[in-house]
Amino acid sequence: MQAYLLDFANFMLRWLHVIAAIAWIGESIYFVMLDNSLRTPKAAEDRDKGVFGEMWAVHGGGFYHNQKYATAPAKLPEDLHWSFWKAYTTWLSGFALFVLLYMASPSIYLVDPNADWTWAANLSGWQANAMALLFLLGGWVVYNELCKRISPDMTRDGVLSLAVAVMMVVVAYLSTQIFSGRAAFLLTGAVMATAMSANVFFWIIPGQRRMVAAMKAGEAPNPLDGKRGKQRSVHNTYFTLPVVLLMISNHYSFAYSHDHAWAIMSLFIFGGALIRQFFVVMHAGTIQPAYPVAGTALIAVAFWVAMPSGASSGDAGDASTSLAEIETIVEARCVACHSSSPTQEGFAAPPAGIVYDASDQIVRQRDKIREVVASGYMPLGNMTGMTDEEREAVAAWSGSQ
Ligand code: HEC
Repeated sequence: MQAYLLDFANFMLRWLHVIAAIAWIGESIYFVMLDNSLRTPKAAEDRDKGVFGEMWAVHGGGFYHNQKYATAPAKLPEDLHWSFWKAYTTWLSGFALFVLLYMASPSIYLVDPNADWTWAANLSGWQANAMALLFLLGGWVVYNELCKRISPDMTRDGVLSLAVAVMMVVVAYLSTQIFSGRAAFLLTGAVMATAMSANVFFWIIPGQRRMVAAMKAGEAPNPLDGKRGKQRSVHNTYFTLPVVLLMISNHYSFAYSHDHAWAIMSLFIFGGALIRQFFVVMHAGTIQPAYPVAGTALIAVAFWVAMPSGASSGDAGDASTSLAEIETIVEARCVACHSSSPTQEGFAAPPAGIVYDASDQIVRQRDKIREVVASGYMPLGNMTGMTDEEREAVAAWSGSQ
């Protein structure tokens, strides 16, 4: 019952998380598009009011006329629309999901028993949880310090972007050394997503509040607040595509159970950011095919790097393991979870819908079994203590007997 409750809560939270993220990222993409699509206002009276850009649009059967002021209108309207709950809801629901799934079963989902760094392979459950929290917090602190130190007055944003890019490669690398591949991808995405929400919470919204307060007091708002808000929302824009990719990566074990998962992750991050750049520039009026071409090239490299070695190349010749031996191994190492009624604590239903109760179910999934066993991804967290000999026996299973 408890496992079922957790599964159901997970399902509903994921729903909320995806909806909130769609709303937030959709709005963020919309505003970047709007900003880059602004043209000098046609009417002299608008220019006299301080409007520096406008965009006309037709949508849902209506005509819209957006105007952006160079600094602010002479008088602020009473009902100013603010955007922050979408960002906060996305982060809070995402964090709750992380707690419910990963932190509730750290030895299954967070710890990589085959990690190169032995201390990481031997982390206890609570240590792994503490490491994960530290990782998220540390990511934000380092990113925020980079912004504050490298480009405090927003004049060296180019250098800052470079530093953030290098930081993301380091984050990707460290995450794969410390945590299981699946958690590493998620946590790297979560470092970016946390930076995005924290940018809204600690800088963008407080900056806007200071600007509004200054205007209400009849003073000129500090232009640094506006510029900093812009700097951080630009970062958020380039994070969006990579974050979404990393968040959905947990279905694709070929990527995160690879020996060079950090490199694959970095290729995806830069590929996503380059593709985003194409749209940013396009809305400003220029088509630059070089960006999506470069982004796709990076993803093609990721495809090549992540390709499972010999996963489907087949047969190990004479030394093939018999089906009876395979059944014994699968029974001992996999069926605790992959059964129509799992016995492993915390599993209410077969994970990923994969069941190995009968011989034909095992035979049908031969290639997939060999792939996940060879990469070390399964058994998850090696909870069932699969030995190297058993892995070799699975690798040598040709399926001909
Ligand atoms: C401790 C529980 C557990 C054990 C033991 C276990 N698995 Fe899994 N398995 C899971 C979970 C959870 C998932 C879903 C993980 C995910 O979505 O990334 C999964 C997913 C899979 C998948 C789908 C992977 C994909 O790429 O979609 C395969 C195949 C698989 N397991 C095979 C095996 C085999 C073979 C064994 C035994 C050698 C095994 N599992 C042992 C929990 C387990």
